[in-house]
Amino acid sequence: MAGYSNAEKKIGRASVAEILKTGEGMERALALLEAGQVVAIPTETVYGLAGDATNGEAVARIFEAKGRPRFNPLIAHVSGLVMAHEVAVFDTLSEKLAQAFWPGPLTLVLPLAKGAAIHPLVTAGLDTIALRMPQGFGSQLIARLGRPLAAPSANSSGRITATTAEAVEADLGGKIPLIVDGGPTEVGLESSIVKVEGATVRLLRPGGIAAEVIEAVTGLPLLRQAANTGANTGERVEAPGMLASHYAPNAAVRVGAASVRPGEALLAFGPNRAAGAAEAAAMLNLSPSGDLREAAANLFSHMQALDRSGAKTIAVEPIPDAGLGEAINDRLRRAAAPRDIREGRK
Ligand code: TXA
Ligand code: MG
Repeated sequence: MAGYSNAEKKIGRASVAEILKTGEGMERALALLEAGQVVAIPTETVYGLAGDATNGEAVARIFEAKGRPRFNPLIAHVSGLVMAHEVAVFDTLSEKLAQAFWPGPLTLVLPLAKGAAIHPLVTAGLDTIALRMPQGFGSQLIARLGRPLAAPSANSSGRITATTAEAVEADLGGKIPLIVDGGPTEVGLESSIVKVEGATVRLLRPGGIAAEVIEAVTGLPLLRQAANTGANTGERVEAPGMLASHYAPNAAVRVGAASVRPGEALLAFGPNRAAGAAEAAAMLNLSPSGDLREAAANLFSHMQALDRSGAKTIAVEPIPDAGLGEAINDRLRRAAAPRDIREGRK
C-alpha cells in the first residue's frame, strides 16, 4: 500500500515563510510575485498558492511546492471582466454566470483566447482555461499586478485544503517565502467549477456555490461529472481535482457513521449525536444547529484539528446532500477514499 513517503511527511521541517496580515502584506506580495515567486494568499473560498500565470517559472514553483502531478491544470484568477476576456472566450451562458457570481466562488472553464499570455503550464496543455474572479485581497493584488494569478489551494497535493494561515504554514511553511494572513476563509470550500458545453452546463466540481443557486441563474439543470475513479491510467482527466483520494488527513475517514467505534474521533453535524459519541477520542461539530454554510466553513479546519488529536480514524456523522452538502460530502468521500489511489502518489 502506498501511503505517505517520509519525504512527503516533512515532519519537523522548520518554517521559513514570513506571515503578514492583509493590511501589511500587499507590497511584499507584489514584489515577490513580480520576481516570479509564489505567495500564499487568502481568498473567500480557501487559501491559494499564487504565482504569476504568465510566468512559467512561477507556475513551476507552485507545482514544486505542492508536489502536484504535472497534468493538473490550475485555476487562473482575474481581477475583472476585462482581464478575463483577454485570456478566455466567453459564450452567452458563461457571461451570464460571471455577471451573477463574480467576484465569488465560481470557476468557469472556457476556451483559451488566441494569443493569451497565460503560460501553458497553467492549462497543462489544454485549449481551455479555468477562470475565477476572487473577492477581497486576491482581487486587489491581481489588479495591482495587472496579470492573472494561477492559484491552486495552498496545501500539498492530496492533503487537506487550508482555510487558515496557520494551516498553510504547517503544511507549506518550509517551502514558500510569504503567507498573507486574512483570517479564516469565509466559505471554507473551493469554488464550484462549471463548464458550458453548447446548450448544457456541466458541474465539474461541486463547491462554494450550491448547484441549485447556479441552476436558478441559467434555468438549466447542472449535468454532473461522474466521479473519477482516480486509478491513474495516465489518460487526461478533465478535472483532476476530482481524483478519488484527495483532501486526505493522516487519519482514516469513515463517512455516514451512525455510531462511534472505540478510539475513533468524531466529526459531528447537527443537534443529534451518533451512538457512542460520549466515548469518542475527540469531537468537533461542524454546525451544532445543522447549518450547511457553517459546516462548509468549518470542514477543513475541524478535520485538521481531529487529525491532530492522533486518533487513527475520524468517524463523520451523516450530512444531508442538499445545497452545500453536495460539496461537503464530495470532499468527505475523497478524504475517505483508499489512499493507494491518492493523487499525490508519485
Ligand atoms: O476556490 C478555489 O477554486 C481555490 C482558490 C484558491 O481559488 N482554488 C482551487 O484550485 O481549488 P485548484 O488548482 O486546487 O483546483 C483546480 C481545479 C482542479 O480540479 C482542476 O483539474 C480544474 O480546476 N481545472 C483547471 N483547469 C481546468 C480545465 N481547463 N478544464 C477542466 N478543469 C480544470
Ligand atoms: Mg486543492
